[in-house]
Parts: sequence; C-alpha cells; structure tokens
Amino acid sequence: MSTQAKPGAVRVAVVGATGYTGAELLRLLGQHPRVHVDTLVGHSRVGEAASEALPSLTGTPLGARTIEAFDAAALADRVDAAFCALPHGASAPTVAALRDRGVTVFDLSADFRLRDRAVYEAWYGEHGAPERFGEGGLRARRGLPGAAGGRGSGGRPGCYPTATVLPLWPLVRRGWVTLDRPIVVDAKSGVSGAGRKLRASAHFSEVANGIRPYATAGRHRHTPEIEQELSAAAGAPVRVLFSPHLVPMVRGLLAMAYVEPTDDRLTAEACVAAAREDYAGSPAVVVLDADRPPDTQWAQGANRAFVGYTKDPRTGWIVAEGAIDNLVKGAAGQAIQGFNVRFGFPEALGLELPGAWP
Ligand SMILES: NC(=O)c1ccc[n+]([C@@H]2O[C@H](COP(=O)([O-])OP(=O)(O)OC[C@H]3O[C@@H](n4cnc5c(N)ncnc54)[C@H](OP(=O)(O)O)[C@@H]3O)[C@@H](O)[C@H]2O)c1
Repeated sequence: MSTQAKPGAVRVAVVGATGYTGAELLRLLGQHPRVHVDTLVGHSRVGEAASEALPSLTGTPLGARTIEAFDAAALADRVDAAFCALPHGASAPTVAALRDRGVTVFDLSADFRLRDRAVYEAWYGEHGAPERFGEGGLRARRGLPGAAGGRGSGGRPGCYPTATVLPLWPLVRRGWVTLDRPIVVDAKSGVSGAGRKLRASAHFSEVANGIRPYATAGRHRHTPEIEQELSAAAGAPVRVLFSPHLVPMVRGLLAMAYVEPTDDRLTAEACVAAAREDYAGSPAVVVLDADRPPDTQWAQGANRAFVGYTKDPRTGWIVAEGAIDNLVKGAAGQAIQGFNVRFGFPEALGLELPGAWP
C-alpha cells in the first residue's frame, strides 16, 4: 500500500525488494532526504510484512510495509522511478514494461550493461527485451563506470567490473599498459555476491573455511563487461584473464590487476596522480597513496571504491587494486548515485557515510 510522500521527494519503487541488493536499496533509500519509497515489490513473498522478509527492517517505518506483486501499470501511476534488483533475464521484461509506461528505471542486473547483443547472447542467452537492447548506461560520465551513475535510466556496472575497471581505467586510457597480452585479474568476493537464493554451494559449512575459485580463466560472465569498458578506454581491443574466488566473508570485493607498463619507468606514484586527476570530484572513489593496497573492510556498508597502485621493483609490473562493498558501490549505492545524477541531486546525496569498521 502506498503511503504519504514527503514534499519534494521522488516517489520510488524497489522491485526485487526481498533480495540482498533490494535490502541494501531499502536501507539506503529509507534515509535518503529526497526519496519516498512508495512500493516494495517481491516475487515469492508477496503479502508478507517487509520486516518478515527482511528482519533488519524490524521496527523501522519500511519494516511495517507489505511486499506487493509486480504490476507495471499500477506502479506507473504511483512512482517516478524504480530500482530493479532482479536476476538477469527476469529483469529485462520488467524494466521494459516500466519504461514503456514512462517510469525511469535503474537496473542492477546485467541485462542492459553490454553494448553488443551477440556478446550478451553468448554469455547470458536470449535477451528478454531485445527491442530495448543497448539502452544501457554503462558508459558513465567521463567514461568512468564507477565515478558517476551512468546515463539516466541505463544499466549499472556489475560488482567485479566496478572494482576492476576503476583502477585500470586511468592507466589504460593513457596508453600506459602493454595490451598485446591479456591483463591478468585475480578477484575475491564475499558470499553475498551470489544473492540470497538458496544453493548448496553457499551453505555456511561449504564456504566458511576455504577459498573457492570459480568460473576461473575467463569463464565468468563479467569478463566481457570488463573488456568492453577497458577496450573503450584504450580505443583498442583489451583482453582480460579474469579469475574470481569466493572467500569466507559476507560482503566485500577485491580485484587485483597485474599489468606490464609500456614504459618500465612508470611508478606507482604516477599511477596515483593519474587516477586522482581522473577521479577528482568523484565522491565515490578514494585513490590511496602509492604502495597502500586497499582492504575490503574499509568499504563495508559504504558507497566508496578504494583504488590503489603498487609497483613490483623486480619485474617492473604495476599491481592495480580496487576494493568495494559488492552490495553498495557494486550495486545499490551505485544505482542511487545514478539516480541522484539523473534527478539533479548532489551525486553523493544519502550516500555520504563512511564504512562500518571494523
Ligand atoms: N549480490 C550482489 O553483490 C550484486 C552486485 C551487483 C549486481 N547484482 C545484481 O543485482 C541483481 C539482484 O541480485 P541479488 O544479489 O539482490 O539477488 P537475490 O538476493 O537473489 O534477490 C533477487 C530478487 O529478485 C526476486 N526474483 C527472483 N526471481 C525472480 C523472477 N523470476 N521474477 C521476479 N522476481 C524474481 C527475488 O524474490 P524472492 O525473494 O521471492 O526470491 C528477490 O527479491 C542481480 O541481477 C545481480 O546480478 C548483485
């Protein structure tokens, strides 16, 4: 049931409110000064109190709300914007139905992130709204998929691409990276990156005591997205050898990219200076001093990406590092950043808090 909006607030719906990124959207949007969360849309939990589906909302105004079924026409009457936090495939037709009715949509799935339909189909299968393919907004302001929110209602970058591309982008676009061989990226994610859906491979007893490589050696679906953005930055094809790992933590994502400089005199300090120039004014990217690799704990709960550079004095290679909270800068926070840009609010509005540390 819709509730009274605060004056001047943008009325929004969260579609997929009962998942992990949906929960994060509600946590952040609930305290955003220019947002009224009008509708919480679910799938299998329609009719439940939000506090039942999302226990951390117990005792909050949003917790007292009811999870509703998806109805594009009803939403179009009630809201100005919608955040879609659905699995890929399910997202495209939902986004299309809302956009057809004039709702501005911020999509967290991969359905609108790739620009080449053949590449999308090779990695994800048939697209659920082919007539709207290519409406993604991944090429964000200044080409930086993490610095701003993207073009209006387009897609948001994925979690691994955000942590990987942010540190590499300043180097690749300046021609500082040898591109006649792949860039090697080794990444680690907390288990919430896999979403809330039950699966044996995410059981506590199967993840708590180990580190699990998965979809390694270029088999992960985020590989083409990373290559797409870096190729655009380089103006030439970039290949990435990407290997992710599941590590026993709930949130957090760390990407370590190993690059051979085109000039072996390149220093970590020069990389830091370049990144600071490129990300100047971005409230969501923190460029660390040279040789200070980031820690995922610094980003926990915050819409901040920590970017760092270290030089290996023996090989002359540079390690470009990115750490984020997958659910915030990698998903919900990034989408809200895009919402802020699209609706003319300060980019960091409602997103200023530093992480919860330790
Ligand atoms: N988790 C991350 O760190 C992360 C980071 C970046 C981007 N993303 C992307 O964000 C999206 C949501 O991820 P998540 O981790 O929040 O997933 P999740 O925890 O599994 O939540 C998915 C949500 O979608 C609903 N849903 C599932 N199948 C549906 C269907 N066929 N039709 C309509 N609704 C359906 C679920 O409802 P029920 O509760 O009823 O199942 C739930 O509300 C995904 O596209 C994911 O790739 C996730």
